[in-house]
Amino acid sequence: MTQTNEQATFAGFEPGAELSDEQIELKSRELLAQLTLDEKLAMMDGDSPFWAGLAEMMGGGYGAHPWNAGVISRLGIPGIRFVDGPRGVVMDGATTFPVSMARGAAWDVALEERIGDVIGRELRALGGTLFGGVCINLLRHPAWGRAQETYGEDPYHVGEMGAALTRGVQRHAMACAKHYALNSMENARFKVDVTISPRALHEVYLPHFKRVVDEGVAAVMSAYNGVNGEWCGQNEVLLTDILKEQWGFAGYVLTDFIFGMRDAKKAVLAGQDLEMPFQMHYHQHLKHLVESGEVPLERIDDAVHRLLRQQLRMVRPGTYDAEQVGSESHRALAREAAEKSVVLLQNAGDLLPLQDVQTIAVIGRLADTPNTGDDGSSNTRPAYVVTPLEGVQAALKSQAEVLHDDGSDLEHARATAQAADAVLLVVGYDHKDEGEFLDPATMQNLAFLFPAPTPEEMPIVQGFMQGLAGQPDEGFLSGGDRDRLTLHPEDEALIQAIAAVNPQTVVAVMGGSGVIMEAWRERVPAILMLWYPGMEGGHALADILLGRVNPSGKLPLAIPQRAQDLPVFDKDATEIEYDLWHGYRKLERDGSTPAFPFGFGLSYTSYRYANLTLDQNQVGPSETLSVSLDVSNTGAHAGEEVVQLYVSPIGSAVEQAPKELRAFTRVALQPGETKSVQLSLPASRLAYYDEAKAGFVVEPLEYELFVGAHSLDQHALKARFVVRGD
Ligand code: BGC
Repeated sequence: MTQTNEQATFAGFEPGAELSDEQIELKSRELLAQLTLDEKLAMMDGDSPFWAGLAEMMGGGYGAHPWNAGVISRLGIPGIRFVDGPRGVVMDGATTFPVSMARGAAWDVALEERIGDVIGRELRALGGTLFGGVCINLLRHPAWGRAQETYGEDPYHVGEMGAALTRGVQRHAMACAKHYALNSMENARFKVDVTISPRALHEVYLPHFKRVVDEGVAAVMSAYNGVNGEWCGQNEVLLTDILKEQWGFAGYVLTDFIFGMRDAKKAVLAGQDLEMPFQMHYHQHLKHLVESGEVPLERIDDAVHRLLRQQLRMVRPGTYDAEQVGSESHRALAREAAEKSVVLLQNAGDLLPLQDVQTIAVIGRLADTPNTGDDGSSNTRPAYVVTPLEGVQAALKSQAEVLHDDGSDLEHARATAQAADAVLLVVGYDHKDEGEFLDPATMQNLAFLFPAPTPEEMPIVQGFMQGLAGQPDEGFLSGGDRDRLTLHPEDEALIQAIAAVNPQTVVAVMGGSGVIMEAWRERVPAILMLWYPGMEGGHALADILLGRVNPSGKLPLAIPQRAQDLPVFDKDATEIEYDLWHGYRKLERDGSTPAFPFGFGLSYTSYRYANLTLDQNQVGPSETLSVSLDVSNTGAHAGEEVVQLYVSPIGSAVEQAPKELRAFTRVALQPGETKSVQLSLPASRLAYYDEAKAGFVVEPLEYELFVGAHSLDQHALKARFVVRGD
């Protein structure tokens, strides 16, 4: 292996030098002119030979170092040094944040940008130059195994969160948005073809990618799946027509790893710039394709130019100290993120915050289990993980007795609950239930994509094959798409048993997306959605239980009452159609009342919204409406409220969602305090995609806007305005 982690530097540029766009253009052209064809081609794929790389990666080396591509020492070109995320940098000791879905529930773009900044610093300190963790696929269905890696179900919200992470990371390194596009199922990711209309594609599944491209993201990773009959890694419509031409993306495209390219010629001509992470198809075929004239040299130069430009733009020399990795201030940020992402779903009788508790029982399989998310490419390696039990113990010290029971014996758990004033029951999922999925059978089915080994590589192949045979049937990465949307039956039985003996029961649910709770939610007074809350999650949970922190998270997805209210999800599908309808937009259209609406979350205080004012009641299609209102904290606790603005078109010529999120902001308020909140609403955000015109159209129409605490808030303030025609 030739992986090196030395600090990435460009020859000829002083540390800290800021390059203007002209200098970047000049320097990248200069470097391009100096590169030989072999060097150019070497920049277009991973530096590791396939078999050695695969054996190392599958042998557990994934987080050992960055995965390099196109390091050209002769010219000081630092190359792509890819390290994954998104819950932190996946190398030893880096800070583990709550998963993206949790951070989506924080609805806090400033916080997300700070997280990005820390990730960017840690990435550089660990030798990386490209952060692979801006995952912005839309949550179409809560069974998606990798739901935890994205921010939610709404394109505007996901786009704003992804853009914030990108901004933060790109102060230090390049960021990569993934998986482009329509990668919203896991087990079938290597085989499924998604059929979609242009309208649903542009309006629902791509706006967040466009948003992140507009933010200047350096790289976009193509997905494994197909879209409209062509694999994403060689999909000219997606990669060239839409991404590079319509959106003007100046960065580079890279494949998803190992199985992300099927055909070198198709891929390069479709606009694929970089094959990751090993020497595979490009290594075997590209030189011949160029020399035979089947692939024009201009396409190679374009790819290399894109790679150079982004490296010059973002991989500036700088001092990144290894001591920053997992530092105290970074861990404090992980704790803050966990505090802001926990969603209080139910709090009957104001059970929370707990008061005057002498004995608390912390019960459940997950009560004392480090549980930061799946064990796939996003798996981090933190120095420690504070479990819920440890968090409660640390917060209470000797002020109260803390009992622990893992819940495996119902009778025992019941007795433990009876002996306590209050119970914290920690239930939900872990990496065995949901997450990235790869099994030996899939690997074997796709082995035709692997290059033939050289005689010298045969021992590696044999070792690898033996390792493969020794794998358990459930696979290397066992999570996959969820089998159920409800909790495990054991968890449900435990809840019923405990709630029957202790009325002061708080259920904390761990998981990467929505959980259907109908079988038990009315049996317990309080429910917290904890997600996978990162290395500091136990502390955040304890502070919320005890009222040291006021919960402020809001659901980035609607939780339905019944699975049949959701779109069809078939985890083994080879073909599927995605339309305009999923999530809260579908539930509202169909008149299905959710258990908990999109944007919903309770607080220990109460807020009042008043004085909604629009700066004008008519806007042109390219103008922006300014919306202001007063938000007051009318309760007794300091708190933070997420103010959400939704819009309904009145009498649109096309089928539209009854209501859609168009703006949001977070506001901090002391008890009794009132703040004026401003929200901007560019009329362009109301556009729908007109297939006949192949573009977005802002309909001249009357619209109604709602500003409230969630998507179905009965107390939302309302106003109407008109968008004029051109
Ligand atoms: C995942 C990507 C990840 C890549 C590198 C793939 O299987 O889909 O999200 O970045 O592996 O590990």
